[in-house]
Amino acid sequence: MQENNRVPRVIVVDFGAQYGQLITRRIRDLNVYSELVSHDVDFAEIEADLPAAIVLSGGPASVYAEGAPTLDSRFLELGVPVLGFCYGMQVMASTLGGTVPQTDIGEYGPAELTRCDVESQLFCDTPLEQTVWMSHRDSVGSVPAGFVVTASTPTTAIAAMECPSRQLYATQFHPEVHHTVYGNQMLKNFLFDIAKLEASWTMNSIIDEITATVREQVGDEKVILGLSGGVDSSVVAALLSHAIGKQLTCVFVNHGLMRKGEPEEVERVFTKQFDANFVYVDAREQYAQALAGVSDPEQKRKIIGTEFWHVFFAEAAKLEAADGKPVKFLAQGTIYPDVIESGSKSASKIKSHHNLIPFPDGVHFELIEPLRNLFKDEVRALGATLGLPESMVYRQPFPGPGLAVRIIGDVTLEKLEILRNADAIVREEIDAYNHQLFEQTGVRDSERSVWQYFAVLPDIRSVGVMGDERTYAHPIIIRAVESRDAMTADWARLPHELLAKISSRIVAEVEGVNRVAYDITSKPPGTIEWE
Ligand code: XMP
Repeated sequence: MQENNRVPRVIVVDFGAQYGQLITRRIRDLNVYSELVSHDVDFAEIEADLPAAIVLSGGPASVYAEGAPTLDSRFLELGVPVLGFCYGMQVMASTLGGTVPQTDIGEYGPAELTRCDVESQLFCDTPLEQTVWMSHRDSVGSVPAGFVVTASTPTTAIAAMECPSRQLYATQFHPEVHHTVYGNQMLKNFLFDIAKLEASWTMNSIIDEITATVREQVGDEKVILGLSGGVDSSVVAALLSHAIGKQLTCVFVNHGLMRKGEPEEVERVFTKQFDANFVYVDAREQYAQALAGVSDPEQKRKIIGTEFWHVFFAEAAKLEAADGKPVKFLAQGTIYPDVIESGSKSASKIKSHHNLIPFPDGVHFELIEPLRNLFKDEVRALGATLGLPESMVYRQPFPGPGLAVRIIGDVTLEKLEILRNADAIVREEIDAYNHQLFEQTGVRDSERSVWQYFAVLPDIRSVGVMGDERTYAHPIIIRAVESRDAMTADWARLPHELLAKISSRIVAEVEGVNRVAYDITSKPPGTIEWE
């Protein structure tokens, strides 16, 4: 699947749509593989790896505006079914000789659509009148030769058009948005009846696909992977050990900055459950020395990153020395949003920058990125299918520099111990609270459930009294936020009883802590992490 030459794919040509990724998601949810490509993708690439169907996304521009993205007319002549939405419809119309006059009246939000009295495979099994979601100013004024109008709304006379003999279909509205009540049915009609695709892209087929591709790519060479215990690298490790067994070496560097129980879990899963070579490097002392006396957050991050590569390359060198055979491949947990976001070009265009990356000492690895076509929740589903434990698959975001950026000021082994113990209590209690909400509502991300939660250790001490003794010890700050994507976040309105329980447990159970505070700052202006 890495080269996408095995599974039939539907490409979504992106005209700068708000909903581009969403269209890809909807198609994948119907078990058909789909990729987003930029409207200015090199056409030769598309011809060389012909998609089974094409969707033209919406976009913010006016088709006649200067610099508006255009459509290479050859997309419409490939002989594969094409479905355009919104701007995608307008650009289809204007490319083929229809008109798209500028209008003063836009249409935003729900609209009542009426089907015309013509046969339409796209609208099959949908009622004559239905609610759709509109978001446009311009619209098609006259359809190109050979097209028929298939639906209208009170504002938009040509709300859908098609030319079945050329397999060209278009809607002014957005079928990918849930508010378009029969949108999913239309997508199904397009994929399964018009494009004759099968709903065969399932987690098991993805595993088979990646396994075959990786085996072909790797041959009998060695592959190395830096396993961090995060979702992506864990899924890559599970997948590759399934595909190539002991040709894979997972290097797990315990830098002493992980949460309670995590290093043990990583070791257990990848020694007992999976068949790869697992190299455990205990680098706790080394990291503690490198970090001693450093309190600047950026400096900490830099040291932690640099140390990792030192340790990792030392292990790679040992692996080569063992039998004299170089390690040819480096596996990485790059996922699809990383690919899309690194330039919003087509996935295939981005690939070329990634083929070979140079490392110090003249070392070169070729990259293997088996998850580069998958969204985060697909990666999680894949991990679950491969048998990874839930705690790994649904792990919360956790910074690469780990607890070092949750200790404000310099990092010591003693502070790490305090934070690890306090953090375990915060997580245990809020895990239980989330679980209870889930039991009540049946929704994992219900409105009140908490998205990310952890403890922070600031660089201060304060006075307290425990028993008859005066204490002078650290406070712990609880951070718990609600968010969807970490871009914005709000502090979680946790019940007072829950906060009280966490507070009394931390002070009673964690030596060196005499006070607990709750961070009530949203993002912005705060960030989720403290460093
Ligand atoms: P901030 O603190 O910027 O964090 O609001 C946003 C999200 O990113 C996570 N985060 C990191 N993740 N490496 C990572 O992989 C990092 O260095 C890092 N720093 C912050 C953070 O936990 C939150 O979910």
